[in-house]
Amino acid sequence: MNITIRPYQSGDITHVQQICLRTAASGTDATTLFFNSSIPAELFAFPYLSYDASLCLVACLDNIPHGYILGTADSEKFIEWMEHKWLPRLRSIFPADTVSCSPVERSFLNLIHTPAPSWFNSPPCPAHLHIDLLPAVQRQRVGSKLVNQFIKLLQQQNISQVYVDVSPRNRGAKQFYTALGFTTLPATNPSSVMIKNFS
Ligand SMILES: CC(C)(COP(=O)(O)OP(=O)(O)OC[C@H]1O[C@@H](n2cnc3c(N)ncnc32)[C@H](O)[C@@H]1OP(=O)(O)O)[C@@H](O)C(=O)NCCC(=O)NCCS
Repeated sequence: MNITIRPYQSGDITHVQQICLRTAASGTDATTLFFNSSIPAELFAFPYLSYDASLCLVACLDNIPHGYILGTADSEKFIEWMEHKWLPRLRSIFPADTVSCSPVERSFLNLIHTPAPSWFNSPPCPAHLHIDLLPAVQRQRVGSKLVNQFIKLLQQQNISQVYVDVSPRNRGAKQFYTALGFTTLPATNPSSVMIKNFS
C-alpha cells in the first residue's frame, strides 16, 4: 500500500466530494443520508478550494485521493466571503423550502440559509482547518502528517495558531486532535472548538 501526500490539483475535485460525503456523518459514511450527494462538499470542502486551494493537501492511496486537509489562514475574511460570494449561489440552487430531503439534509439546508457568521462561532484565531480521510487510510499517521504539513504552510504566513470545530459525537476525531496537542476551548457547545499553538 503506497500512501503519498501532495498539493491539491483541480482534477481531484470529484474525489474530494466523495471523501467529504463518506465522512460527513460525524466522521462516518453519510452516503445514504443525502438525496443530493454534493451538499456536504458544497458547504465544507469546495468553498476552501475556491477561496485558497494552496492550503489544500491530498493523501493518495496508490495515486488515488483518499483524504484531504483544507482550510483558511484568515477565518474572518473567509466567513465574509462565504456569506457574500459562496452562499448566495447555494441558496438559489438549494431553496430553503426543498421538499425532497432527508432530516440530515434538512439540517445542511438550514445551514445554507443561515448567515455564515452565526454558524462559525467566533473564530478564536485566524486559521482553521478541516481534515477527512477514508477508512482505508485511517490510523496510519496520515492525518498527523497532513496536519503537520498544513501547519508548515501556515507558518510560512507567520501564523502560529489553528482551530478546528469538532462534532461532540466524533470522539475519534477529538482524541486525534488531543494526541496532536490541540486543547478544547471552554463553553463552545454544541460543537467543540479545539485549538493548537505552534509558534
Ligand atoms: C480523525 C482523522 C483525521 C485522524 O487521522 P488518522 O490518520 O486516522 O490518525 P493518526 O493515525 O494520525 O492518529 C494519530 C493519533 O491520534 C489518535 N487517534 C486517531 N484516530 C483515533 C480514533 N479514531 N480513536 C482514538 N484515537 C485516535 C491516536 O492517539 C493516534 O495514535 P495511535 O494510532 O498511535 O494510537 C481520520 O481518522 C478521519 O479523517 N476520520 C474521519 C473523518 C473525521 O472524523 N474528520 C475529522 C472531522 S473534525
